Amino acid sequence: MADEYGTFARYYDWMEPVMVPVRRVLEGAVAKAGCRRVLDVCCGTGTQVAALRREGVRAVGLDLSQAMLNQAVRKGGLCGTALVRGDATRLPFPGAAFDGLILSFALHEKPAPIRRAMLVEAHRVLKPAGRLFVLDYAQPVTIAGRIVLGVLSLVERRAGRAHYRCFREYLQAGGTDALLSSGNWTLLERRSFWKGTAGLYLASFGHTADTKDRRP
Ligand SMILES: C[S@@+](CC[C@H](N)C(=O)[O-])C[C@H]1O[C@@H](n2cnc3c(N)ncnc32)[C@H](O)[C@@H]1O
Repeated sequence: MADEYGTFARYYDWMEPVMVPVRRVLEGAVAKAGCRRVLDVCCGTGTQVAALRREGVRAVGLDLSQAMLNQAVRKGGLCGTALVRGDATRLPFPGAAFDGLILSFALHEKPAPIRRAMLVEAHRVLKPAGRLFVLDYAQPVTIAGRIVLGVLSLVERRAGRAHYRCFREYLQAGGTDALLSSGNWTLLERRSFWKGTAGLYLASFGHTADTKDRRP
């Protein structure tokens, strides 16, 4: 099977300056939730995994792309056991193995059935009180947000036709808010980024709790 990120891997970290503040908020959320063992599904070049491990979290990254994983190793700071090659729809881990699971900019680029399969697997490997952290696109409500989305759309378009189609369909369906509220997930907290075009969503499976919506 062709490596979807084969060519892109070496350029992927060029976008990192934009991601740094968002990743910091995610690290804070993982710490606040008290998650000690965390799986970063679709970890890409491993930046988030490395940052969490520096904080003492037992984080493991999983990705399908060997090119992205090679890039993660090349950057340094990650040993082989911190990275696993695998498919997000068939995670090679036993049930209830993790306190936290991250899906960062992974869901928007998949067709709806794959997105659902990824969330089913997330639920399976999370402990009953485990936390799901989703970083992904949201439907902006302001003019500034729509302008930012226009710029982000150009980046997504560069990733290929199939990728771009999924991105558009994801947003038309209501983005991450709609995805999580349509499943059996309870949204515990939501932080907005990039003028409302992306968010960090903290969710747990099943039971209800208060939802906090914080828009900086
Ligand atoms: C947009 S990148 C996000 C990378 C990283 N999570 C981040 O926030 O920078 C999407 C990643 O998902 C990976 N991916 C795509 N389909 C996958 C699958 N079925 N299983 C595991 N990883 C997959 C790609 O190889 C790529 O590294």
